[in-house]
Amino acid sequence: MVNFLIFGPPGSGKGTQSVKLAEKFNLLHLSTGDMLRAEIAAGTELGKKMSTIMSKGELVPDSVVIEMIANKIDGSKGIAGFLFDGFPRTVAQTVALEEMLNTRGMKIDCMLALDVEHDELVKRLIGRAEVSGRADDMDPAVIENRIDVYNEKTAPIMNYCEERGVYQPVNGMGSIDDIFGRLVEVMNKIV
Ligand code: AP5
Repeated sequence: MVNFLIFGPPGSGKGTQSVKLAEKFNLLHLSTGDMLRAEIAAGTELGKKMSTIMSKGELVPDSVVIEMIANKIDGSKGIAGFLFDGFPRTVAQTVALEEMLNTRGMKIDCMLALDVEHDELVKRLIGRAEVSGRADDMDPAVIENRIDVYNEKTAPIMNYCEERGVYQPVNGMGSIDDIFGRLVEVMNKIV
Protein backbone atom coordinates (compact mmCIF):
# COMPACT_ATOMS: atom_id res chain seq x y z
CA MET A 1 0.00 0.00 0.00
CA VAL A 2 1.22 3.50 -0.86
CA ASN A 3 -0.39 6.33 1.06
CA PHE A 4 -0.55 9.95 -0.03
CA LEU A 5 -1.73 13.14 1.63
CA ILE A 6 -3.04 15.83 -0.68
CA PHE A 7 -2.49 19.03 1.17
CA GLY A 8 -3.07 22.74 0.72
CA PRO A 9 -5.22 25.70 1.74
CA PRO A 10 -8.97 25.93 1.09
CA GLY A 11 -9.57 26.18 -2.65
CA SER A 12 -6.12 24.87 -3.61
CA GLY A 13 -7.70 22.07 -5.65
CA LYS A 14 -7.36 19.10 -3.29
CA GLY A 15 -10.83 17.72 -4.01
CA THR A 16 -10.65 18.35 -7.76
CA GLN A 17 -7.29 16.64 -8.14
CA SER A 18 -8.09 13.81 -5.70
CA VAL A 19 -10.91 12.46 -7.85
CA LYS A 20 -8.62 12.21 -10.87
CA LEU A 21 -5.61 10.85 -8.94
CA ALA A 22 -7.64 8.24 -7.07
CA GLU A 23 -8.90 6.88 -10.37
CA LYS A 24 -5.48 6.88 -12.05
CA PHE A 25 -3.60 5.20 -9.17
CA ASN A 26 -6.44 3.01 -7.75
CA LEU A 27 -6.34 4.86 -4.42
CA LEU A 28 -9.22 5.22 -1.98
CA HIS A 29 -9.99 8.94 -1.74
CA LEU A 30 -10.84 9.85 1.85
CA SER A 31 -12.04 13.44 2.34
CA THR A 32 -13.05 14.39 5.86
CA GLY A 33 -14.83 17.47 4.47
CA ASP A 34 -16.99 15.24 2.25
CA MET A 35 -17.66 12.85 5.16
CA LEU A 36 -18.72 15.72 7.41
CA ARG A 37 -20.97 17.24 4.72
CA ALA A 38 -22.57 13.79 4.25
CA GLU A 39 -23.37 13.76 7.99
CA ILE A 40 -24.96 17.21 7.67
CA ALA A 41 -26.97 16.18 4.59
CA ALA A 42 -28.20 13.06 6.38
CA GLY A 43 -29.32 15.17 9.36
CA THR A 44 -27.41 13.11 11.92
CA GLU A 45 -26.74 14.38 15.45
CA LEU A 46 -23.03 14.60 14.60
CA GLY A 47 -23.82 16.56 11.44
CA LYS A 48 -25.97 19.04 13.36
CA LYS A 49 -23.20 19.63 15.91
CA MET A 50 -20.46 20.02 13.27
CA SER A 51 -22.41 22.23 10.88
CA THR A 52 -22.13 25.36 13.06
CA ILE A 53 -18.36 24.94 13.41
CA MET A 54 -17.92 24.35 9.67
CA SER A 55 -20.09 27.30 8.64
CA LYS A 56 -17.71 29.58 10.59
CA GLY A 57 -14.66 28.06 8.90
CA GLU A 58 -13.27 26.61 12.14
CA LEU A 59 -11.92 23.08 12.53
CA VAL A 60 -14.08 20.35 14.06
CA PRO A 61 -12.52 18.48 17.02
CA ASP A 62 -9.59 16.19 16.20
CA SER A 63 -11.34 13.22 17.85
CA VAL A 64 -14.29 13.42 15.41
CA VAL A 65 -12.23 13.19 12.22
CA ILE A 66 -9.72 10.70 13.63
CA GLU A 67 -12.56 8.29 14.39
CA MET A 68 -14.07 8.78 10.92
CA ILE A 69 -10.77 7.99 9.23
CA ALA A 70 -10.03 4.97 11.45
CA ASN A 71 -13.39 3.47 10.49
CA LYS A 72 -12.68 3.91 6.78
CA ILE A 73 -9.15 2.48 6.93
CA ASP A 74 -10.35 -0.73 8.50
CA GLY A 75 -13.22 -1.19 6.06
CA SER A 76 -11.29 -0.94 2.77
CA LYS A 77 -10.08 -3.73 0.48
CA GLY A 78 -8.70 -4.14 -3.08
CA ILE A 79 -6.97 -0.76 -3.29
CA ALA A 80 -3.37 0.27 -3.94
CA GLY A 81 -3.41 2.76 -1.05
CA PHE A 82 -5.13 5.79 0.44
CA LEU A 83 -5.34 9.39 -0.71
CA PHE A 84 -6.13 11.54 2.33
CA ASP A 85 -7.75 14.87 1.41
CA GLY A 86 -8.31 17.55 4.06
CA PHE A 87 -6.92 15.21 6.71
CA PRO A 88 -4.74 15.60 8.70
CA ARG A 89 -5.36 19.25 9.52
CA THR A 90 -3.44 19.59 12.77
CA VAL A 91 -0.17 18.12 13.96
CA ALA A 92 -2.18 16.05 16.48
CA GLN A 93 -4.19 14.54 13.60
CA THR A 94 -0.93 13.80 11.76
CA VAL A 95 0.50 11.94 14.75
CA ALA A 96 -2.77 10.00 15.09
CA LEU A 97 -2.73 9.09 11.38
CA GLU A 98 0.87 7.91 11.57
CA GLU A 99 0.00 5.71 14.53
CA MET A 100 -3.07 4.31 12.76
CA LEU A 101 -1.02 3.45 9.68
CA ASN A 102 2.03 2.17 11.57
CA THR A 103 0.00 -0.25 13.66
CA ARG A 104 -1.36 -1.67 10.38
CA GLY A 105 2.10 -1.99 8.78
CA MET A 106 1.78 1.17 6.66
CA LYS A 107 3.06 4.75 6.68
CA ILE A 108 2.56 8.17 5.12
CA ASP A 109 4.60 7.78 1.92
CA CYS A 110 4.21 11.26 0.48
CA MET A 111 2.60 14.63 1.19
CA LEU A 112 1.64 16.42 -2.03
CA ALA A 113 1.45 20.06 -0.93
CA LEU A 114 -0.34 22.34 -3.40
CA ASP A 115 1.00 25.88 -3.42
CA VAL A 116 -1.57 28.48 -4.58
CA GLU A 117 -1.56 32.27 -4.23
CA HIS A 118 -4.01 33.82 -1.76
CA ASP A 119 -6.02 35.83 -4.31
CA GLU A 120 -6.45 32.77 -6.53
CA LEU A 121 -7.82 30.78 -3.56
CA VAL A 122 -10.39 33.48 -2.85
CA LYS A 123 -11.34 33.72 -6.53
CA ARG A 124 -11.90 29.96 -6.80
CA LEU A 125 -13.97 29.73 -3.62
CA ILE A 126 -16.15 32.73 -4.47
CA GLY A 127 -16.67 31.14 -7.89
CA ARG A 128 -17.66 27.83 -6.32
CA ALA A 129 -20.12 29.50 -3.93
CA GLU A 130 -22.50 30.02 -6.84
CA VAL A 131 -22.81 26.28 -7.41
CA SER A 132 -21.75 24.49 -4.21
CA GLY A 133 -24.33 25.82 -1.78
CA ARG A 134 -21.58 25.46 0.85
CA ALA A 135 -22.19 27.84 3.76
CA ASP A 136 -18.42 28.28 4.19
CA ASP A 137 -18.04 29.55 0.59
CA MET A 138 -20.81 32.17 0.77
CA ASP A 139 -19.21 34.77 3.03
CA PRO A 140 -15.82 36.32 2.10
CA ALA A 141 -15.06 36.80 5.83
CA VAL A 142 -15.50 33.04 6.40
CA ILE A 143 -13.22 32.30 3.43
CA GLU A 144 -10.54 34.54 4.98
CA ASN A 145 -11.01 32.82 8.34
CA ARG A 146 -10.57 29.40 6.70
CA ILE A 147 -7.30 30.59 5.17
CA ASP A 148 -6.16 32.04 8.55
CA VAL A 149 -7.04 28.78 10.33
CA TYR A 150 -5.08 26.88 7.67
CA ASN A 151 -2.01 29.11 8.14
CA GLU A 152 -2.14 28.87 11.91
CA LYS A 153 -3.15 25.26 12.58
CA THR A 154 -2.62 23.26 9.39
CA ALA A 155 0.43 24.68 7.62
CA PRO A 156 2.83 23.50 10.41
CA ILE A 157 2.21 19.93 9.20
CA MET A 158 4.44 20.76 6.21
CA ASN A 159 7.48 21.14 8.51
CA TYR A 160 6.51 17.94 10.30
CA CYS A 161 6.40 16.03 6.99
CA GLU A 162 9.57 17.68 5.71
CA GLU A 163 11.42 16.41 8.78
CA ARG A 164 10.21 12.91 7.91
CA GLY A 165 11.34 13.25 4.29
CA VAL A 166 7.87 12.92 2.74
CA TYR A 167 7.11 16.57 1.86
CA GLN A 168 6.68 17.28 -1.88
CA PRO A 169 5.65 20.84 -2.83
CA VAL A 170 3.68 21.09 -6.09
CA ASN A 171 2.83 24.29 -7.95
CA GLY A 172 -0.98 24.54 -7.70
CA MET A 173 -1.35 27.51 -10.06
CA GLY A 174 -2.52 27.02 -13.65
CA SER A 175 -4.99 24.74 -15.37
CA ILE A 176 -6.47 21.64 -13.70
CA ASP A 177 -4.77 19.44 -16.32
CA ASP A 178 -1.36 21.06 -15.88
CA ILE A 179 -1.52 20.63 -12.10
CA PHE A 180 -2.67 17.02 -12.52
CA GLY A 181 0.37 16.38 -14.73
CA ARG A 182 2.71 17.79 -12.06
CA LEU A 183 1.13 15.62 -9.36
CA VAL A 184 1.30 12.48 -11.52
CA GLU A 185 4.99 13.11 -12.20
CA VAL A 186 5.73 13.22 -8.45
CA MET A 187 3.52 10.20 -7.66
CA ASN A 188 5.01 8.07 -10.44
CA LYS A 189 8.37 8.27 -8.65
CA ILE A 190 6.82 6.83 -5.49
CA VAL A 191 4.37 4.11 -6.57
P1 AP5 B 1 -12.88 20.70 3.32
O1 AP5 B 1 -14.04 20.14 2.63
O2 AP5 B 1 -11.65 19.87 3.49
O3 AP5 B 1 -12.60 22.08 2.66
P2 AP5 B 1 -11.30 22.94 2.38
O4 AP5 B 1 -9.98 22.47 2.86
O5 AP5 B 1 -11.70 24.28 2.81
O6 AP5 B 1 -11.11 22.69 0.92
P3 AP5 B 1 -12.09 23.00 -0.22
O7 AP5 B 1 -12.99 21.86 -0.51
O8 AP5 B 1 -12.76 24.30 -0.02
O9 AP5 B 1 -11.01 23.21 -1.37
P4 AP5 B 1 -10.13 22.18 -2.18
O10 AP5 B 1 -8.69 22.40 -1.91
O11 AP5 B 1 -10.64 20.76 -2.06
O12 AP5 B 1 -10.41 22.75 -3.62
P5 AP5 B 1 -11.43 22.23 -4.71
O13 AP5 B 1 -10.80 21.17 -5.52
O14 AP5 B 1 -12.76 21.97 -4.11
O15 AP5 B 1 -13.29 21.15 4.81
C1 AP5 B 1 -14.44 21.93 5.06
C2 AP5 B 1 -14.60 22.12 6.56
O16 AP5 B 1 -14.80 20.84 7.20
C3 AP5 B 1 -13.39 22.72 7.29
O17 AP5 B 1 -13.37 24.13 7.23
C4 AP5 B 1 -13.60 22.18 8.70
O18 AP5 B 1 -14.61 22.90 9.37
C5 AP5 B 1 -14.13 20.77 8.46
N1 AP5 B 1 -13.05 19.79 8.34
C6 AP5 B 1 -12.78 19.00 7.27
N2 AP5 B 1 -11.74 18.20 7.52
C7 AP5 B 1 -11.34 18.47 8.77
C8 AP5 B 1 -10.30 17.98 9.59
N3 AP5 B 1 -9.44 17.02 9.16
N4 AP5 B 1 -10.17 18.48 10.85
C9 AP5 B 1 -11.02 19.42 11.31
N5 AP5 B 1 -12.02 19.94 10.58
C10 AP5 B 1 -12.19 19.48 9.32
O19 AP5 B 1 -11.49 23.52 -5.65
C11 AP5 B 1 -12.14 24.69 -5.22
C12 AP5 B 1 -12.80 25.35 -6.45
O20 AP5 B 1 -11.79 25.75 -7.36
C13 AP5 B 1 -13.73 24.42 -7.23
O21 AP5 B 1 -14.82 25.16 -7.70
C14 AP5 B 1 -12.87 23.92 -8.38
O22 AP5 B 1 -13.63 23.60 -9.51
C15 AP5 B 1 -11.98 25.13 -8.62
N6 AP5 B 1 -10.65 24.76 -9.11
C16 AP5 B 1 -9.88 23.73 -8.71
N7 AP5 B 1 -8.71 23.73 -9.35
C17 AP5 B 1 -8.72 24.81 -10.18
C18 AP5 B 1 -7.79 25.36 -11.10
N8 AP5 B 1 -6.60 24.81 -11.30
N9 AP5 B 1 -8.14 26.47 -11.75
C19 AP5 B 1 -9.36 27.06 -11.55
N10 AP5 B 1 -10.30 26.57 -10.70
C20 AP5 B 1 -9.98 25.47 -10.02
